[in-house]
Amino acid sequence: MPENIELSTQFEVYSSLAEFSSEDQNLIKEAFEATKRSYAPYSNFNVGAALLMEDNSIVHGANQENAAYPECTCAERVAFVKAATQEESQKIKKIAVVAVKNNDHLSATPCGSCRQIMLENEIKQNDDIEIIMLYAPGKWVKAKNIKSLLPFSFKL
Ligand code: THU
Repeated sequence: MPENIELSTQFEVYSSLAEFSSEDQNLIKEAFEATKRSYAPYSNFNVGAALLMEDNSIVHGANQENAAYPECTCAERVAFVKAATQEESQKIKKIAVVAVKNNDHLSATPCGSCRQIMLENEIKQNDDIEIIMLYAPGKWVKAKNIKSLLPFSFKL
């Protein structure tokens, strides 16, 4: 008989921005700011990501689309690549991700590929990266680390 295992993860759910610390509120504000640099003429789905670095600076990312759809780049990936290629290497403390379509705030839980990419960075820096995501209009979820978003992740 196979053994059954149960995986459990705790997420914090917030139903208003006011419930967040001022640091988190600011990071969310920066993620919304980043949506202004989204290039999404095909989906009109403007995703913004903001990373809080260990020196408290912010790195922004926004999705960049292309007529050849597989070439679209997600906001999270843009932010992580920017952070990884900064002259001075720094750990990432947290990320906030939001999505806006026609002025509505939509769910912005990262795609599987971005989870894998963010996880690699978390492992590489040997420190958790908190993640704050808009998961429904006015509803937020926060996880302690990226690992919790990707059980049985791919490893070499
Ligand atoms: N997108 C992101 O930027 N992040 C995600 O985690 C999922 C999807 C973008 C890619 C594309 O430009 C648009 O959202 C619709 O898929």
